[in-house]
Amino acid sequence: MIVPDIIIAIDGFSSTGKSSFAKLMAKELGFLYLDSGALYRGVTLFAQEEGFINKENEISPALEAALEGLDLWFATDNRTFIGERCIEKEIRSMEVSSQVSPIATVPYIRRFVDAKLHELAKGGRVIMDGRDIGTTVFPNAEIKIFMTADPDVRAQRRYDELVMKGENPNLDEVKENLRQRDYIDSHRETSPLSRAKDAFILDNSNMTISEEVAWVKGLIKGKFNIYDD
Ligand code: DC
Repeated sequence: MIVPDIIIAIDGFSSTGKSSFAKLMAKELGFLYLDSGALYRGVTLFAQEEGFINKENEISPALEAALEGLDLWFATDNRTFIGERCIEKEIRSMEVSSQVSPIATVPYIRRFVDAKLHELAKGGRVIMDGRDIGTTVFPNAEIKIFMTADPDVRAQRRYDELVMKGENPNLDEVKENLRQRDYIDSHRETSPLSRAKDAFILDNSNMTISEEVAWVKGLIKGKFNIYDD
């Protein structure tokens, strides 16, 4: 399927499968995949390790200046790095998950991440996932999808993901973490999670990833009058 140089924005709640879907879609279309959540997670890990955030989620204002020296980037295989160090495993831990939402409420941190996304997306042909891509970061994205799924299905998915990564999660804690993140993400002042008016809703509680890909390909074909396969 030959697709023009567009930007595809995938937003939605945590653990709705946005990144697995976006990665697969990027592969199928030959697009670049950008995981904006990984950048917020990278900033969170940096803030934790460098002592800019405490257990009460209080963030030191000194973090703003320190971000200037933070070399956060993606390898071509989508792994996230700080300088030479791959931080993929650390940024998916419960420790980072439990402090990433407060970090993502801070306006200067959002500006830091947005600037990086704009820089990386310069060439177009990008699929990006996050919470505010279609509303704030790329409001002119040609295709916008808002993903949602039943909260229990989402908690189970996150739980399975953590088990696969060798962690020993507790399902109730995972549920509670998701509930809190949904709340903070949707109620923060700067760029809260919300559906762009022109975003298509994709509820994937009972869908396989290939069904999702087929559905979105159908949308793209319809929008750009593509008749080939
Ligand atoms: O998609 P994720 O679970 O990896 O995202 C981690 C956190 O980052 C999530 O709790 C909210 C925040 N986030 C955001 O505020 N805006 C984005 N565009 C992406 C993520």
